[in-house]
Amino acid sequence: MPANQTVGYEIADINLASLGKKRVEWAAREMPVLASIRDNFAKTRPLAGKKLIACCHITAETANLALALKAGGCEAILIASNPLSTQDDVAAFLVKEAGISTYAIKGESTETYNKHLRLALNFKPDLIIDDGGDVIATLLNEFPEQAKKIIGSTEETTTGITRLHSMEKAGVLPFPAMAVNDSLTKHMFDNRYGTGQSTLDGIIRATNILLAGKTLVVVGFGWCGRGIAQKARGMGCQVIITEIDPIKALEAVMEGYRVMSLIEATEFGDIFVTVTGGYHVIDTEHLMAMKDGAIVCNSGHFDIEINLEGLKENTKSIEEIRPFTQEYKLQNNKSVFVLGEGRLINLAAAEGHPPCVMDLSFANQALAIEYLIKNNGQLKAGLHKLPAEIDFELSDLKLKALNIKIDKLTEEMKVYNNSWQSGT
Ligand code: ADE
Repeated sequence: MPANQTVGYEIADINLASLGKKRVEWAAREMPVLASIRDNFAKTRPLAGKKLIACCHITAETANLALALKAGGCEAILIASNPLSTQDDVAAFLVKEAGISTYAIKGESTETYNKHLRLALNFKPDLIIDDGGDVIATLLNEFPEQAKKIIGSTEETTTGITRLHSMEKAGVLPFPAMAVNDSLTKHMFDNRYGTGQSTLDGIIRATNILLAGKTLVVVGFGWCGRGIAQKARGMGCQVIITEIDPIKALEAVMEGYRVMSLIEATEFGDIFVTVTGGYHVIDTEHLMAMKDGAIVCNSGHFDIEINLEGLKENTKSIEEIRPFTQEYKLQNNKSVFVLGEGRLINLAAAEGHPPCVMDLSFANQALAIEYLIKNNGQLKAGLHKLPAEIDFELSDLKLKALNIKIDKLTEEMKVYNNSWQSGT
């Protein structure tokens, strides 16, 4: 940031900066690919003179992305992409030590969250990093005149991509948007291994229950659901999958999971986790049918997957039992425990995905921003994927950082692969 630029902020406590610094540096040890992009950005300054908003979970991993973007020369504002996901010490580090304007407080109200969104848009960015689609949706609804100035945006998550597809279909997406989530080096790793591990981490930190021997119901068998199911099985859970997509359901069957309807699963489940992106996928009828003491949580982007309003209508009292664990005492005399207020449990009660996978996700983010700038004026309005070579480059860099060597095709093999003459 230029010396004359003031650092704006609304954060919990600036005095947490030195703690935040340690957390950010610890994460950096597992983010070598992003570090190499940062070094390269520092030399080539591809973002020089650009204004950028990043609406992300404000974590140690995001701080490392922000440092890379700053090294690239942009002026950035960070805002939270979820009211419960901010690491307050990291926010303090970003402001005090990194000089990056940051507006994010763990536990902020919806009003504060919305205020920060608008404050960031008033900064009139050239580029937007979005996680869930709230910045773009607010821009289209309330700041349409800004669209002309925007070079492009990037989107981190499945839910955001779904919203961008709807915008594209409705003909209202006015600039290129890079679907970072669709890169193989993003969703195959972050969504599967990241969500898999961090969701169980969130459930464990919130409840301290033993997973071994429990029946865990995963609602949705996308990349995130696959990851949660795999890790839960590894921890000794009996895993049940519920799905609406017959192909995914069949895949889950052949992976060896029990597959059934959600209402059937209420008879067996000790723990329910939603990862669908869908509205009220756990509805009142399911909540009322669950076993006494069932634990319910969500690891999808928004807090709309569990019908908490319906649950409240059937509840006598709600009590906070532990941080991020609320007991709903139901009128039918059973209890249901809701974790993290139905917000993404991996970031509410734990620290989100570990840096090793965020390294790949945020390397994709940084390169997507560079790609938008390099191709400014050449890309059509609408959703774009990053070129496939970037996936190969990033996985190559990650393997090198892990000191893992792989084989190469010989010339003879290449000739064979490119010929059609030789068969049986
Ligand atoms: N999304 C999931 N985990 C995350 C993390 N650790 N940082 C930023 N965004 C995330």
